[in-house]
Amino acid sequence: MSDVEDKVLSDVHVGCLVGIASSGRQVTVVSRFCIRFHQPSGKCVNEIEVDDDGDVVVSRDPSECQTVMIEHSMETTIPNVGQQVWPGALLLADFILHNSDRFTGLSVLELGGGTGLVSIILARVALHVLCTDIGDDVLQCCRRNIERNTHIYEDKPYVEGQCAQPIKVRELNWLEHDQIENSEGVFAWSDEDLVRLQKIDVIVAGDVVYSDGLTEAFISTLRYLMMSYSCCSQCYIATEKRFNFTLADLDAVAPAHNHFCSCMENLCREESSVGRFHLEQIPLDFPSSFDFERPPLLELWSLKFYRNLAS
Ligand SMILES: C[S@@+](CC[C@H](N)C(=O)[O-])C[C@H]1O[C@@H](n2cnc3c(N)ncnc32)[C@H](O)[C@@H]1O
Repeated sequence: MSDVEDKVLSDVHVGCLVGIASSGRQVTVVSRFCIRFHQPSGKCVNEIEVDDDGDVVVSRDPSECQTVMIEHSMETTIPNVGQQVWPGALLLADFILHNSDRFTGLSVLELGGGTGLVSIILARVALHVLCTDIGDDVLQCCRRNIERNTHIYEDKPYVEGQCAQPIKVRELNWLEHDQIENSEGVFAWSDEDLVRLQKIDVIVAGDVVYSDGLTEAFISTLRYLMMSYSCCSQCYIATEKRFNFTLADLDAVAPAHNHFCSCMENLCREESSVGRFHLEQIPLDFPSSFDFERPPLLELWSLKFYRNLAS
């Protein structure tokens, strides 16, 4: 992604479009994403399975292949990229679907949630999800998508103790992450939300690495949340290493990705009495549940915070 005024289009939507959804000031579209839920063995339920007699075993669980309808824009400027679905969201959703035990029954915070797709998938297994982003247009669209897809998470197959509102949409600006208490407007944090935030177990974020200033603000937000809240020791981040040819380098380079790696290196080198961060890459050895070919340069990262016992 490049200049602020440039228009960008995510190829995730190609072939999924089903209609126009005119909402308020904007004309948006709706895309259909078909999710194939896999059995715990890792086998796709759509694969033909035969029993000992050679008869086809028909899956009878109607929840195993479902459709998520996502309202989004087709093409946006960089400041409005949250109104599209990006490959990082699909990678994170795949990871959650194939590693549901890492999220089951937990409270999860999504940073830069955009259209809400990842939070919708998360809410199937997590106890509670806080989906955050900035700007009323993105947050309203996200909330509409969450309301549109209750069938995905209403009947939780795995979680005991349902929340009345399993996904909440709230504003969390990485540039002002220490000002959450002072938020105002429709997506402001109530006292109850702030208590929930303090109890989050896991953070997730998809495709949030594209501008150096925002990357620094994003990492600073992670640092603040993971160091401040004692339950929160794990974060998963999906990134795409995007290459651009630059005249300065006379080569194809990935400056945004390089900046992310160097900021993370600095974070993990920090010495603090509270604890230390550790980053590692997660192998992408889990199948895709969407009809979308993963771009080869997608990466998934695990950032952990090891808290010192005395702190
Ligand atoms: C490329 S989009 C990714 C959206 C979504 N996670 C996905 O993968 O489809 C980047 C997201 O970061 C959000 N974002 C940008 N600046 C932000 C900030 N200062 N604070 C919080 N979120 C921000 C954008 O609104 C957008 O939703």
